[in-house]
Amino acid sequence: MASERDAAAVGSVLVNSKQDLTTRFRALFTLRNLGGPEAIKWISEAFADESALLKHELAYCLGQMQDERAIPILETVLKDTSQEPMVRHEAGEALGAIGNPKVLDLLKHHAEDPVIEVAETCQLAVRRLEWLMNGGNESVEKDLNPYFSVDPAPPALKKSVPELRVQLLDESLTLFERYRAMFALRNLGTEEAVLALGDGLQCSSALFRHEIGYVLGQIQHEASIPQLQAALEKVEENAMVRHECAEALGSIGKEACLQILERYKKDQERVVKESCEVALDMLEYENSSQFQYADGLLRLQGTQ
Ligand SMILES: [Fe+2]
Ligand SMILES: [Fe+2]
Repeated sequence: MASERDAAAVGSVLVNSKQDLTTRFRALFTLRNLGGPEAIKWISEAFADESALLKHELAYCLGQMQDERAIPILETVLKDTSQEPMVRHEAGEALGAIGNPKVLDLLKHHAEDPVIEVAETCQLAVRRLEWLMNGGNESVEKDLNPYFSVDPAPPALKKSVPELRVQLLDESLTLFERYRAMFALRNLGTEEAVLALGDGLQCSSALFRHEIGYVLGQIQHEASIPQLQAALEKVEENAMVRHECAEALGSIGKEACLQILERYKKDQERVVKESCEVALDMLEYENSSQFQYADGLLRLQGTQ
């Protein structure tokens, strides 16, 4: 099967720690687009790597692929306390994204995990699975989402931006309810909605702040640049949050963003440094005539 050979060719780039991280990221996204058991097998192998940034992205991609064959590896990663919190978080979230209720007990167990980012992620994933089990409709959720991502919570039902902002910032509510406001604001995507989301970067949960960075990266609205920059510049901020803000600046892709990323590509914090490198590579892609970012196959064929 040609796709099996393709997956093997790209997979060997992904697992090769001597390759540039940016090339390995492109290989990962190529595998994600290929899909299937071979792609999952290669992505699973890369969890032995040393880059938390790469490993968290592996888990993210496995969740977005929504293929149940990835459940065993994601369970292993979630349980493995030698993996970084950011990686275990993404494995828990991916199990929620796949949506099979058989992982409910494991997620409930880790909803009490001593690592707060992992615990909060699993609390959210449990709520998402319960929402699906109670008739929550994923396809309606996807119709409302212009970004085609599988999110940790469905958007809140129609409300105004000021109402959604209150729900977003109310720390007495569950994270699930607050995430619902977050995704509703993201789907609106107006400047007013973007500024309300940016206010979420001051909230107390690091997990919540990192998700704000993630959705601002999806929206790609210039109005969020100052708040994203401020979060990236805060050295005492959680590295997972700084990472997500760096990537968001990369996807906004304006000249000002590029200058900020250039400054942080030598950051002390490895995930921040690597995020800036990857973000700059994506920017280079957006500003060039390269046919596609996920070009792992084209590169192997020497056509790019
Ligand atoms: Fe995440
Ligand atoms: Fe991330």
